[in-house]
Amino acid sequence: MTVDAKDILLDEETLFRNGKVLTPGYVPENIQHRDEQLKALSYALKPGLRGLNPINTLVYGPPGTGKTTIIKHLFDQANEASGKIVTVYINCEDANTRFAVFARIHEMLFGTSPPDTGKPIESVKEKIFSKLLKEDKGLIVALDELDQLFIKKNVDKILVDLLKAHTTYGFDRVGVFGAMIDERFMAKLDDKTRSVFNPERVFFEPYTRDELFEILSERVKHAYYQGVVSRKVLDYMVDRTFSLGDLRIGIDLLRRSGLVAERDAKREITVKQVDEAFGGGSQMLALKNTIRGLDDTERSLLSYLASSGEEVSGVVYERFKEETGVGIKKYNEMVKKLEHLKLVDTVHLEGERGRSRKIVLRYKAQDIQDHVKTCK
Ligand SMILES: Nc1ncnc2c1ncn2[C@@H]1O[C@H](COP(=O)(O)OP(=O)(O)OP(=O)(O)O)[C@@H](O)[C@H]1O
Ligand SMILES: [Mg+2]
Repeated sequence: MTVDAKDILLDEETLFRNGKVLTPGYVPENIQHRDEQLKALSYALKPGLRGLNPINTLVYGPPGTGKTTIIKHLFDQANEASGKIVTVYINCEDANTRFAVFARIHEMLFGTSPPDTGKPIESVKEKIFSKLLKEDKGLIVALDELDQLFIKKNVDKILVDLLKAHTTYGFDRVGVFGAMIDERFMAKLDDKTRSVFNPERVFFEPYTRDELFEILSERVKHAYYQGVVSRKVLDYMVDRTFSLGDLRIGIDLLRRSGLVAERDAKREITVKQVDEAFGGGSQMLALKNTIRGLDDTERSLLSYLASSGEEVSGVVYERFKEETGVGIKKYNEMVKKLEHLKLVDTVHLEGERGRSRKIVLRYKAQDIQDHVKTCK
């Protein structure tokens, strides 16, 4: 029998009620289990709605804990509620130069990119701030994935550009929401920057298993027709998600396993299809996201573990110390972090030489090496 692609493409049978709710950029209307964080960020934004300065805030916590989602949700609401503030969401992985950041603000205010004709950035800033002054509006900028600006070494410049606009342009109603996984980057800020950016901190803790279950079952209701995802299969996906600690993986798994079930012409997703979906991409997404949250030294340690095949912690330490000069305290902290992020397990060994432990990778060594390379 020959396959006719048209039959497949035009087949309207689908398991998805609304597949859009499983796409990465979707912002859910109903945000569960983040009340404290929503409250803290609402308080930080509120002065801006009344013509005052928004409170600078740093949002941090592990991948997939809702940082981006909550900022976007709040910005949507602020835009609806008040004409007194302009909100600009910037992902610094895409926009990581001074020009790119101000271009995004320009786009939001004027609907077009600034001319890229070698004009000094100062003229773009002047245009932005004088419009805000004239219209009597405040500005709040979310710099998501702020760590990228630390890596690019322009974080100080950009924060000062924004938060000291009053000295040159007379505009002082600016607030910055920074978001990143690891707040330890903040220690690298210049003293001068710290004097203008000393943010309130809002931590996004990992979701518990019960919380993940509730969030994912809500998403299932919107995404799939009834009966497609059984309780047993949902539990299985939640366990997988919890063991990796990243809600994004659960959503990715939901979407991929539905596609596998459709391909197999099934009306219900099975555990086997979830496994296939996991191996087919969700697991690698988890690895990629976790590596994003590591600093350079932590990445080198992970890479060393993957390339050397060495597992005994004491031996890894000695060799790693030779290469990098890292001390024992820092080394132990790093191993703890890799364990916390579920990249490795540590296993205690009872041996002749007293207590020692083994560090076991939770992913294939080759996959780790590939991702450490591409995440740079
Ligand atoms: N409380 C929640 N309720 C419903 N969906 C949520 C909630 N928190 C997160 N999500 C969903 O989980 C996914 C990941 O969330 P988000 O992108 O906000 O994580 P993040 O903390 O910004 O992660 P990263 O540090 O990797 O950028 C998104 O698809 C989002 O829709
Ligand atoms: Mg994010």
